[in-house]
Amino acid sequence: MRRNALVVVANRLPVDETVAPDGVREWRRSPGGLVSALHPTLHHTQATWVGWTGVTDVAPELPDLAGVRLRAVPLSKLDFEEYYEGFANSTLWPLYHDATEQPVYHRRWWESYQRVNRRFAEAAAEAAPPNATVWIHDYHLQLVPAMLRGLRPDVRIGFFMHIPFPPAELFMQLPRRNDLLYGLLGADLVGFQDQYGARNFTQLASRVLGLPVRHPEIEVNGRVVRVGAFPNSIDMADMEALARRDEVVRRAAQIREDLGNPEKIILGVDRLDYTKGIEQRLKAYRELLSDGRVKVQDTVMVQVAVPSRERVEHYRILRDRVEREVGRINGEFGRVGVAAVHYLINQSFDRTELAALYRAADVMMITPLRDGMNLVAKEYVASRVDVTGALVLSEFAGAATELTDAYLVNPHDLDGLKDTLVRCLEAGTGDISRRMRMMRRHVRAHDVRAWAQSYLAALHDASGLGRLVL
Ligand code: G6P
Repeated sequence: MRRNALVVVANRLPVDETVAPDGVREWRRSPGGLVSALHPTLHHTQATWVGWTGVTDVAPELPDLAGVRLRAVPLSKLDFEEYYEGFANSTLWPLYHDATEQPVYHRRWWESYQRVNRRFAEAAAEAAPPNATVWIHDYHLQLVPAMLRGLRPDVRIGFFMHIPFPPAELFMQLPRRNDLLYGLLGADLVGFQDQYGARNFTQLASRVLGLPVRHPEIEVNGRVVRVGAFPNSIDMADMEALARRDEVVRRAAQIREDLGNPEKIILGVDRLDYTKGIEQRLKAYRELLSDGRVKVQDTVMVQVAVPSRERVEHYRILRDRVEREVGRINGEFGRVGVAAVHYLINQSFDRTELAALYRAADVMMITPLRDGMNLVAKEYVASRVDVTGALVLSEFAGAATELTDAYLVNPHDLDGLKDTLVRCLEAGTGDISRRMRMMRRHVRAHDVRAWAQSYLAALHDASGLGRLVL
């Protein structure tokens, strides 16, 4: 049977540039994120990935990555500042995350966003063989579906939003809201992480554009656009295999020893982002130490922070605040040679080390104020092959709608957060393993392959262009 060609379009290509000590430059598969999410599906198809390398002013010829053709879209320094740092990450990102920080609006950023989206649409149109399926990802590229439809009416077009999609009251702030909605409506299927995002989108199509809507379908220019929820996931089998490796088990024991063999290790792993609730978590921990409900000799907190979007003002301020809070906790509660919080700031955390940290952690704290999904929560669950470990999870992470056996918290409610953390630290092994078993069962049945397959099957149904074979 002939397989359908697939073109993935995302802001980032799934490779990072590395420079060896001898100065040789190489492109390596990037860890985590969308790459690992799509990899199992991609290598069975004739696939091309269209995206940016992460480096400005270059568009190198790249070698195939495990059978996937890579096609680089260039971004200039100005594009980077106005499209990526500006419109994508200073306007859309905060607005879509419940305006956790004040979104910034500049007309020239919008001009760049349009220009760069057109460039991606043109690259996708060139890369797609006749009747291909084109799957566009995330908030950076919301205009691409309609632009691509104009250029290539023969292709099947899917869009998936990895971050939350906000309610009408927030979305309506956007000065160019209609253009963004019509951009997305160029797709045959618009996918979201959960039902809330999907509902918000159909409501906006009706309320702002006045289109006929019968959830989950929207009619636009005589076409029907399908809307749906497809919770993203991880490669469970791969994470489990990694967590079982001898070197990971040994490293986990070593970490415990290096931390002074505490009774409990609490772990946080986040990109340094103001949506992640890192400050709330640290504050709750400080108060527990100060109330004497948690003692430094028994419990240690490890916070891994991955720097992100470092030139954007909101991010710089956050980093300072987090580091000040860590300093304050260690100043007040640490002793010589014994830190209360171990703060590890790292650009690219080795996956083996991460798996060892997951295995060493008795409690994993994931407390975002808003998060599309949070795949770290699922990675933690997958790595707990011995069915132990407690997951504290914010109700405002997409993952909370699935991992209902986690210890769910409202990260804004500091007292609730403190009580839940204490409850986890004191929970019996029976309760902990019962919850973990249920969560593991869920992630196993809903792994990333299931995610991609269910999205692509729905896209096939929605597009009416004949059976999709991948
Ligand atoms: C979120 C977004 C991704 C993005 C990632 C890292 O998960 O949904 O699209 O790639 O953050 O952010 P960055 O700005 O470094 O690509």
